[in-house]
Amino acid sequence: MQIVILADAELIAKYGADLIQKQISAKPCSVLGLATGSTPVALYGELIEANRSGALSFHSVSTFNLDEYLGLEGSHPQSYRHFMNEHLFNHIDIDIHNTAVPPGNAVNPIDACRDYEASIEAKGGIDIQLLGIGRNGHIGFNEPSSGLSSRTRVKTLTQATIADNARFFSEGEFQPHLSMTMGIGTIMDSRKVVLLATGASKADAIKATVEGPLTASCPASALQMHRDAVLVLDEAAAAKLSGREFYKHTERENQKLLAQLGI
Ligand code: GLP
Repeated sequence: MQIVILADAELIAKYGADLIQKQISAKPCSVLGLATGSTPVALYGELIEANRSGALSFHSVSTFNLDEYLGLEGSHPQSYRHFMNEHLFNHIDIDIHNTAVPPGNAVNPIDACRDYEASIEAKGGIDIQLLGIGRNGHIGFNEPSSGLSSRTRVKTLTQATIADNARFFSEGEFQPHLSMTMGIGTIMDSRKVVLLATGASKADAIKATVEGPLTASCPASALQMHRDAVLVLDEAAAAKLSGREFYKHTERENQKLLAQLGI
């Protein structure tokens, strides 16, 4: 794992956006894996800005989102499809037909999950997968106890996740308890993973992800086995890491080496 600890959320957004921008420059028809939640919103702002300034085009890019609530139409204001349209797709030059979010309104969600996996494969797999993390270490909606080789499927949300996400729903509004999510195996198949985490509420999950055992009790710990996973953290999210100073030192050394090589 590459662990990058930065001073604030703005630097994290810029760092993450830069990785995506480099990916698209190297391969204009890149396949991006995208995430929802509040953490990536600023990064999406950076991508929109780069697109507006002409520095970045999404013309040939395809995207697959991690997850969706089961039972919500894409037009529902709390659906992740709506979230992605509002926070990214409506503001960039992407072909909306090349953007995929698991269909939360599918008549047969089991078939739909299988089809989602097949569409990712048909595009040649995900080049770079963006992730946030839940306080309990979930990635996508892979809650603790999720199989470490799991594929896209229907998952039941924990009470903790339902409570964390209740802030997006108004009082009395239907809040789904089920989701469709890429599996941990699906995420692990992506060629690069970039996980963003900010704030003290994520410190325990980050500690378990980086320095805990590889265990389904902390789904993000599976990233210990990923060949190219970058964790971009602020000081608060990194606060419980015992190896914090070593990770910072390692990152300075990495940067020096890249500068020497002119990369
Ligand atoms: C939801 C999403 C996750 C996201 C998590 C954290 O549960 N399914 O993909 O990582 O929320 O969200 P936030 O970034 O708002 O803390």
